Amino acid sequence: MDLYEYQARDLFEAHGVPVLAGIVAYTPEEAKAAAEKIGGVVVVKAQVKVGGRGKAGGVKVAKTADEAFEHASNILGMDIKGHTVNKVMIAQGADIAEEFYFSVLLDRANRNYLAMCSVEGGMEIEQLAEERPEALARVAVDPLVGIDAEKAAEIVAAAGFAEELRGKVEETLQKLWVVFKEEDATLVEVNPLVKTGAGDIVALDGKVSLDDNASEVRHPAHEELEDKGAADPLEAKAKAAGLNYVKLDGEVGIIGNGAGLVMSTLDVVAYAGENHGGVKPANFLDIGGGASAEVMASGLDVILNDPQVKSVFVNVFGGITACDAVANGIVGALNTLGDAANKPLVVRLDGNNVEEGRAILAEANHPLVTLAATMDEGADKAAELANAAK
Ligand SMILES: Nc1ncnc2c1ncn2[C@@H]1O[C@H](COP(=O)(O)OP(=O)(O)O)[C@@H](O)[C@H]1O
Ligand SMILES: [Mg+2]
Repeated sequence: MDLYEYQARDLFEAHGVPVLAGIVAYTPEEAKAAAEKIGGVVVVKAQVKVGGRGKAGGVKVAKTADEAFEHASNILGMDIKGHTVNKVMIAQGADIAEEFYFSVLLDRANRNYLAMCSVEGGMEIEQLAEERPEALARVAVDPLVGIDAEKAAEIVAAAGFAEELRGKVEETLQKLWVVFKEEDATLVEVNPLVKTGAGDIVALDGKVSLDDNASEVRHPAHEELEDKGAADPLEAKAKAAGLNYVKLDGEVGIIGNGAGLVMSTLDVVAYAGENHGGVKPANFLDIGGGASAEVMASGLDVILNDPQVKSVFVNVFGGITACDAVANGIVGALNTLGDAANKPLVVRLDGNNVEEGRAILAEANHPLVTLAATMDEGADKAAELANAAK
């Protein structure tokens, strides 16, 4: 889960990372009140989960509370790279002397953590990495040791910080590591980390991604950080039903059991779609091992409610739950859904008790259901039906 800047700011503050005052506001009136509360110069900052807000006009300095009202009126509702701004943060204005960059992240390729740091902050890091890679220090971080005083000193030296700043920056990096570790993050990024006119180090813009796998058990409090309003409604519905669902762009709804099988089903359907008007998979949905009627019904319910879906491909390999149970599940689900089941279904069953499973579906003879003998045949049929219904 990616956090908003204001949420990252709050986590930083909770772990002792130096930040400036910041108050989230949903209306220009709230923005004005927040500016009055903070006092002095403030910055009105669009809260969207995308970088480059400054360049897009989503970060504006306000010298008075009335100006904060003005800026908030303009920024709220703005579209930044496809994200609608529905809240702003009113941040205390910083007197910036220098801007730096720091991040620590999970480095999957090297099965390790990686710290990146530069004294050339402010600009987008991808651009810096491309144009001046030598200006971006990359230091591996041992998960068992983390960023202790020694590692912080190594990072700060590698980035080339001025001598007089090193102590303060090192202290801040150690605290940012605490955020990363204690909150089970996969990314903690500060851009810019600034030196103020008074010589203080402050994290001015933070980006944090939390590891969702750690949320439920280790961090029940993280649930509150979730932006339920912004989630895709179908994804929210699937999540509430305990389904593993990801919405995609295409027209062929997919249901399978096992993440690997579903992933390959997506590939096969995308490939088959090339012969049928370029239709593509509409979703990823793994109903897991126990493909019961109930789970099948809630899966179908989610998929059939996606207006983009024109056909559905059910691709199940009978294992622990045998094909006859799955077939009963499909028939039961169609009965449960009644008129809500209104799109053609192609079903491919294989594995344990496949003959019994196919016999059950043949017997039920549901007008929407077509049986396919193989995965390729099923994908082709589902793509054809989706294309015909487009
Ligand atoms: N509180 C602040 N006070 C003064 N300037 C700020 C403040 N927050 C951001 N800025 C300036 O705006 C720039 C962009 O803001 P930032 O929060 O980094 O957004 P983004 O990275 O999305 O563009 C920063 O590099 C900094 O120069
Ligand atoms: Mg930034």
